Amino acid sequence: MTIEKASQAAYLVAALLFILALAGLSRHESARLGNTFGIGGMALALIATVALAIDGDLSGTGLALLLVATAVGAAIGLYRAGKVEMTGMPELIALLHSFVGLAAVLVGWNGYLHVEADPGGAEAAALASQDLLGIHSAEVFIGVFIGAVTFTGSVVAFLKLSARINSRPLVLPGKNLLNLGALAVFVLLTVWFVIDPHLWLLIAVTVVALALGWHLVASIGGGDMPVVVSMLNSYSGWAAAASGFLLSNDLLIVTGALVGSSGAYLSYIMCKAMNRSFLSVIAGGFGIEAGPSDDTDYGEHREIQADAVAKLLSTAQSVIITPGYGMAVAQAQYGVAELTRKLRDKGVDVKFGIHPVAGRLPGHMNVLLAEAKVPYDVVLEMDEINDDFARTSVVLVIGANDTVNPAATDDPSSPIAGMPVLKVWEAAEVIIFKRSMASGYAGVQNPLFFRENSAMLFGDAKERVNDILRSF
Ligand code: TAP
Repeated sequence: MTIEKASQAAYLVAALLFILALAGLSRHESARLGNTFGIGGMALALIATVALAIDGDLSGTGLALLLVATAVGAAIGLYRAGKVEMTGMPELIALLHSFVGLAAVLVGWNGYLHVEADPGGAEAAALASQDLLGIHSAEVFIGVFIGAVTFTGSVVAFLKLSARINSRPLVLPGKNLLNLGALAVFVLLTVWFVIDPHLWLLIAVTVVALALGWHLVASIGGGDMPVVVSMLNSYSGWAAAASGFLLSNDLLIVTGALVGSSGAYLSYIMCKAMNRSFLSVIAGGFGIEAGPSDDTDYGEHREIQADAVAKLLSTAQSVIITPGYGMAVAQAQYGVAELTRKLRDKGVDVKFGIHPVAGRLPGHMNVLLAEAKVPYDVVLEMDEINDDFARTSVVLVIGANDTVNPAATDDPSSPIAGMPVLKVWEAAEVIIFKRSMASGYAGVQNPLFFRENSAMLFGDAKERVNDILRSF
């Protein structure tokens, strides 16, 4: 068998492994196996690609460069993956998406330099003989466009998620027209480039797409960032598929389509869970206008100490714990699990209420609670538990903020209006564990803190939970 045929066979096996990886990742019992399939598929794809390149016209220098680049990339990847905290995963993923986007832009430009910029060259002649020059130009243009949008969009997502820039939505005057205008310019320039492939057209589309990617994600507010991350995941898939067409690489096309469609589907599911319009989010917050700045005076908040919370808990009949990002930051899940055991031993009915976007990645809270051995059957989804709050003695809000904000249901002008939230305020007593009166990820003030039945337990969540355990 020739190297080329062996590589094609390896690509087919790798594509199947990627499909098995996606199937495995859809349930937590099989997620580990799914990851193993993915790693196997990627290793096979890399080996087959290097073998194909060596079999082709790769020079000694080219091979050396390829090996050095692979080694450097692998070393950085291993280092970052080993070091990343679970709370930092979304920003790492956003950064990795930006690389896919950048790679697609470079592949597109490379395609232009080899064919359109060198009309007398062998590659251009081969394409011209099959009447495929126009198709090639369209592939270059579309690949560069999707790649550049993904690149800057992912960079902004990374900056927002890592709190390097403000997560509030950017609302430029006529922002929807700007987005639509950029799309119209892209379509026009594509037609022009296919007819007459000039360098300046490629430069123009790169600049327009870079600006559009930046603007699309900058326009989306903090609360909608989970959808943005999965949407960029989808864009990065389509960018990879576009590169696959340019490089005539079937595996890249299949993998790109898998990532693109699964990312789009995940965005759709998340939009449904968050009561957001899918089209509005992918169009850069289309229809979302700047809300009035929140200078409402909500009154005074009440403070409580750990020993008073311990007393309250020992007389409670039912307790619901709603964890959020702060529990992950404080690594308070072990203390929370211990508290749950102690309360259940005393005969208190303890349950957990998990919001679909609590924390910083899908399933974040479930993973932490499972890690601390909290039994699965007391961990309920938002829809399963939302009617129980009214019958509950005490709710412990541990490091959650946006996901328990009543403004989402009460205030139509709030940036998170319409987002379903945990109705913790319906319980008899609500204790909120956090370090200050600061707002949550979406940057929105939370009127819950000022309600009569709410009390703030200030400090690091892990320390305060341990204080309560000591007071028992
Ligand atoms: P957030 O609204 O982010 O609030 C977390 C709260 O935890 C903060 O108000 C913070 O207040 C507190 N906190 C931080 N460190 C703490 C510590 N060591 N001890 C005690 N408290 C601490 O959390 P949430 O309710 O989980 O909501 C998640 C937000 O993230 C949503 O807006 C969601 O859209 C967004 N988001 C989610 C995802 C996914 S997929 N889940 C991805 C990206 C973004 P202090 O600073 O006062 O302590």
